[in-house]
Amino acid sequence: MIPNMWYAVLESHEVKPGKPYAFTRLNEDLVFWRDNDEKIVVMRDICPHRQAKLSPGKLVDGNIQCHFHGFQYNQDGGCELIPANGRNGSKPRIFQCWTYPAQEDHGFIWVWTGEPRTAYPPVPFVDGLEEHTYATFQKQWHTHYTRVIQGVLDVSHLPFVHAKTIGRDGKTLVNGPYTTLEDNKIQVWISNQPDVGLPAIKPTEVPPPSTPPTLRFNYPNVWQLWLNDNLSQVIIAAPMDDENTMIYVRNYQKMIKNPVLGKLFARIGNIYNRYVLHEDEEIIVSQTPKKADLDIGERFIPGDRPIALYLKHRRDLILAAQEEQPALTDLPILY
Ligand code: FES
Ligand SMILES: [Fe+2]
Repeated sequence: MIPNMWYAVLESHEVKPGKPYAFTRLNEDLVFWRDNDEKIVVMRDICPHRQAKLSPGKLVDGNIQCHFHGFQYNQDGGCELIPANGRNGSKPRIFQCWTYPAQEDHGFIWVWTGEPRTAYPPVPFVDGLEEHTYATFQKQWHTHYTRVIQGVLDVSHLPFVHAKTIGRDGKTLVNGPYTTLEDNKIQVWISNQPDVGLPAIKPTEVPPPSTPPTLRFNYPNVWQLWLNDNLSQVIIAAPMDDENTMIYVRNYQKMIKNPVLGKLFARIGNIYNRYVLHEDEEIIVSQTPKKADLDIGERFIPGDRPIALYLKHRRDLILAAQEEQPALTDLPILY
């Protein structure tokens, strides 16, 4: 994962009040639950006592109770009760669960991949969809989330993988694409054309477009296809582990103002979107290694600029975070 980022990992409705839920996300087995105010809590799914999973336990008095010996932990991971020591017995600080900063926004649960802070940046969701209604579907792919992101930034595969759907116009020539990177956001203007014998225009030679970008990608895992002011698709590539990703596809629309009909319209659009995503799946899960990175042997053409930029900046963010990291001896002793 890229350190010090908000990753969207689940849709909010996947964690209901009243019980803990186990999900593998961010390469960890995690337990998600809601405290008495229904605020989301995210912990490593392991009890610090004898390392059983916490997720089969219960919620008791706003705490999570381990199923094994009944220890209770609060929303900050602190131990509130060790039944065997008695209600007023000792609760040594070594019984501390690992808790992740988490919040909810735009109907997603976001988890922070770094040390807790006093102030956090906003979640990296895309702007301009506040008046839209949406419908979501999700699909698990057997590959690392970086491959999914590469796939949605790939502008030259359209007439091949999607020859019967979104690439049926046969625009095999990739001019540009004009691509920018600013504030951890990539913007791509697709300008593919049918091949009439002219050479492709290099990304650096395409003049700056005056239209909105076709694709937006906000690090670490939010992507948007902008079709027009009324229609957009958003994909969240939620990392599960090194070989699995949960993909959330949202179809956003604001042509139909009635929320019920609008949602129905968005849902119908997702039948097509699901088919298009399925066209990608077989080829993308076949890419090896499962995790994309610079220096894994891939070679790029000019039209791959968004992908190359994604990988390079991802690497830069990881390296910058490692440089910021305090040396091991400077770390505070937790217990
Ligand atoms: S392992 Fe959880 S209370 Fe003992
Ligand atoms: Fe595709």
